Amino acid sequence: MGGLDLSGRKALVTGGAQGLGEGMAKALAAAGAKVVVADLQKDAGAAVADALDSEYGAGNGFVAHDVTDEGSWENAVVAANDVLGGLDILVNNAGIEITSLLTEVTADQIRRMLDVNILGTTLGIKYGLRTMRPDGLAGQGGAIINIASVAATIAFPGIAVYSATKSAVDRLTRVAAMESGKLGYGVRVNCIYPGLVPTAMGAGLANDVAELGLFGSPEEAVGAVIGLTPAGRLGEVSDMADAVVFLASNEARFITGIGLPVDGGMGM
Ligand code: NAI
Repeated sequence: MGGLDLSGRKALVTGGAQGLGEGMAKALAAAGAKVVVADLQKDAGAAVADALDSEYGAGNGFVAHDVTDEGSWENAVVAANDVLGGLDILVNNAGIEITSLLTEVTADQIRRMLDVNILGTTLGIKYGLRTMRPDGLAGQGGAIINIASVAATIAFPGIAVYSATKSAVDRLTRVAAMESGKLGYGVRVNCIYPGLVPTAMGAGLANDVAELGLFGSPEEAVGAVIGLTPAGRLGEVSDMADAVVFLASNEARFITGIGLPVDGGMGM
């Protein structure tokens, strides 16, 4: 992305082993940051970190991480700080989506989505703020970017609980920005609302809503999304990654507490 310079910056990206997180890790590295990829998937996550080293120069890393586990967060921020010599960008990207009608969704499915999307993001904000604030391990201030969804701003059938968890990410973002400002942490906190991107999750969602009978086929579901999108297409990984680079950059220095739609206009 031309112009935005993250040289010397130190980033941790959760869920960075594939999909949007992988794209965000690469875009941050391309802009000059060093990146630690954190994910449940060890082989895929380590491969992304290796690819960053070969493409953008050594100094990146991988940490096995479960965002729902507090001990795992303690370990991840220490590991990132050790590898990078600091931390000033955290992307809370890890998330899951389980498609279901409200009449069929199980307590277990609800808990799993609450765990990863709300508990995981909340712990991420907690450890991000504690690490970056002046008396923290890294102590240099910085930026937290949470990944919400266009689903937080519209009503799409089959994804009620997922949508609710992403609305929660939006609210968490605003209060985190407020607390960070009031307490002088020097950390900006923002979120983005991605539109549908055909990653494993995005493509799976289109299949699932068709299987539930909400659309005639996955293609019809995708067509419905595009029909609601003024830009006339699905999102691409780079659309989301570029927005994250912007919110992390000095060019966004007066921006905190926002939810930025990156959805081609679908959620307006
Ligand atoms: P994905 O399913 O392709 O990748 C998610 C990554 O998160 C995987 O690498 C997975 O191993 C990791 N992960 C899952 N649970 C984890 C945990 N407990 N701890 C650590 N890592 C964990 O998903 P995708 O599409 O890349 O989505 C990334 C984020 O963007 C998610 O928060 C998702 O809700 C959000 N999003 C995605 C959209 C899409 O259309 N793909 C649209 C709007 C938001």
